[in-house]
Amino acid sequence: MLVMKKLSKSFRSGIVETRALSNFDLELEAGEFLTVTGPSGSGKSTFLNITGLIDSYDDGEYFLDGENVSKLSDERLARLRSEKIGFIFQRFHLIPELTVYQNIEVPLLYRGWGKSQCKQAIEEVLASLALESRRQHKPEQLSGGQQQRVAIARALVGKPKLLLADEPTGDLDSVSAKKIVNVLRQINEHGTTVILVTHDLALARKSRRRLQIVDGRLIDFKQIVHSEWRET
Ligand SMILES: Nc1ncnc2c1ncn2[C@@H]1O[C@H](COP(=O)(O)OP(=O)(O)OP(=O)(O)O)[C@@H](O)[C@H]1O
Ligand SMILES: [Mg+2]
Repeated sequence: MLVMKKLSKSFRSGIVETRALSNFDLELEAGEFLTVTGPSGSGKSTFLNITGLIDSYDDGEYFLDGENVSKLSDERLARLRSEKIGFIFQRFHLIPELTVYQNIEVPLLYRGWGKSQCKQAIEEVLASLALESRRQHKPEQLSGGQQQRVAIARALVGKPKLLLADEPTGDLDSVSAKKIVNVLRQINEHGTTVILVTHDLALARKSRRRLQIVDGRLIDFKQIVHSEWRET
């Protein structure tokens, strides 16, 4: 469902140029569960933002479900994003003026869903993330972990084909983190392709496919396993 060929991205601020991704090649089949690890600043969020059509790239090609992304208008990109992609941001990005319920409703309203259709989907996702009693709270009235769960609920509520999660368990204790991972697994079992960026190596090792990004370069453990490479 996703093909990247020699993708590159640099950031320039003043005289400093940072090559955030370099010659990135990746093929991902629909239904895969991919974890991505790598040191801070290695390009993980950049990779996820490009994958989620939030950020652009400088060179190379990116095909999402066969469509060449660089050829699409901003309007078409926004539509694709809203139809296919759920994004859990590293820094939540909840809307402070809106309640938990309304925050989760936003992506559905974008898609043109009616209020009652929204209500059913939102109630379901509130229950699966144990947030029912918080539906009228504003983000500032929630703990960090609860805010994170709202961000996850918002990404899941539209049942996206592709779910991108940037450190979704970073602010959670190990029990809550495990619950979130189980929610992601269930979503994946129902057919959603999941890309999970995490610092949790134990978690990454358990996933069927694993990538590491180091200095904007990709190490694909699938390829490594095939060439009988062993981790030390
Ligand atoms: N908007 C930007 N302007 C300039 N440089 C940027 C920008 N965004 C990211 N970078 C740089 O690109 C590199 C990759 O950043 P990125 O956020 O992708 O790292 P990361 O792997 O997600 O790190 P972390 O684990 O800390 O979240 C870093 O060196 C960062 O400083
Ligand atoms: Mg990051």
